[in-house]
Amino acid sequence: MTTLTVDLGERSYPIYIDNALLGQTELLKKHIPGNSALIVSNKTVAPLYLEKTQAMLSGLKHQSVILPDGEKYKNLEVLNQIYDGLLRNRFDRNTTVIALGGGVVGDMAGFAAASYQRGVHLIQIPTTLLSQVDSSVGGKTGVNHALGKNMIGAFYQPGAVIADTDTLDTLPDRELSAGIAEIIKYGLICNRDFFDWLEKNMSVLLARDKKALRYAIETSCQTKADVVAADERESGKRALLNLGHTFGHAIENGLGYGEWLHGEAIGAGMCMAATMSQQMDWMSEEDTARTITLIEQAKLPSKAPSSMTTENFRKLMAVDKKVLDGVLRLVLMKGIGQSLVTDDYTSEALTRAIESSFAV
Ligand code: NAD
Ligand code: GLY
Repeated sequence: MTTLTVDLGERSYPIYIDNALLGQTELLKKHIPGNSALIVSNKTVAPLYLEKTQAMLSGLKHQSVILPDGEKYKNLEVLNQIYDGLLRNRFDRNTTVIALGGGVVGDMAGFAAASYQRGVHLIQIPTTLLSQVDSSVGGKTGVNHALGKNMIGAFYQPGAVIADTDTLDTLPDRELSAGIAEIIKYGLICNRDFFDWLEKNMSVLLARDKKALRYAIETSCQTKADVVAADERESGKRALLNLGHTFGHAIENGLGYGEWLHGEAIGAGMCMAATMSQQMDWMSEEDTARTITLIEQAKLPSKAPSSMTTENFRKLMAVDKKVLDGVLRLVLMKGIGQSLVTDDYTSEALTRAIESSFAV
């Protein structure tokens, strides 16, 4: 088993990565301080992994809440089902919420844990590639609003992340690619060597080679753990983890939540950021072409959806958490492995980048 640490002083926590972790009762139980736990999962993941997770809670009072599946249910109304489950079963302040699922379940269960009785314990058991390399680590929790993605939420760190790589065996190919988008992101923002490795290993990753997947998950989690330890609340460096996200979130909202997967929107969003960086003469043509090629090799979209307009994008991008004092900051690149957060661009440059990114 690989154990990485997110180093946040007294709130530090481990990320366990291995196959067959579901079933390791003591590993889970040692992170449950009280005598009760609520598992939050969804209709797709529960039939696959709920029983195994419940078996690890023998001797504790435990219940489950099973949410509908999909990004379109990541909202305040559905979140209420988790509070209902906690209250109906009289779970107290020493209870532990266990998020069993992908990023949608993880973000919602995490926000419920952050807010129920002003905060109860939380454990993340991520079951998608995307959640194993990104969303389960770092403590961002929350839900969408009709007017903006992930706009309601809290920073709330888990007590542990348990990433059982066997759960990826049941993941559809499209979801695997969506997870690879966030893996590529780490190479693009700060690790050129890892990007080179991804170029050489994309076909084995897509073929689900266990050794390659494990290396990609560990490298991604280590990168994220380092960034989060340096800037937990995104007052600086952590914003780099949003490469492609301002464009991508506009796509998710503009098309309707769930139409494109989050990772797909981020794939196209990273290509848009690369295109804009190149058009501003910050990034070479070669690095831009390599970025777009790798994203396409991962079977992700590299173009903005043709059903959207530049105006759509501009309006939706104005509702972004990187807007500070009315100014939209973007994550752009000086090259592969060299990203920066900047407001040093003109409105015309942004419009031009969007206009040149549509699928024809
Ligand atoms: P998801 O949670 O919707 O999961 C994708 C699909 O796979 C769902 O249908 C799910 O039911 C299914 N699934 C999950 N595990 C499975 C398994 N083992 N086998 C078969 N099917 C399985 O999507 P996601 O890509 O995991 O996460 C995307 C969400 O994460 C978005 O809402 C995004 O905003 C959020 N996110 C959050 C952070 C963060 O830091 N908190 C970071 C990145 C993304
Ligand atoms: N996924 C971006 C972050 O965790 O900061």
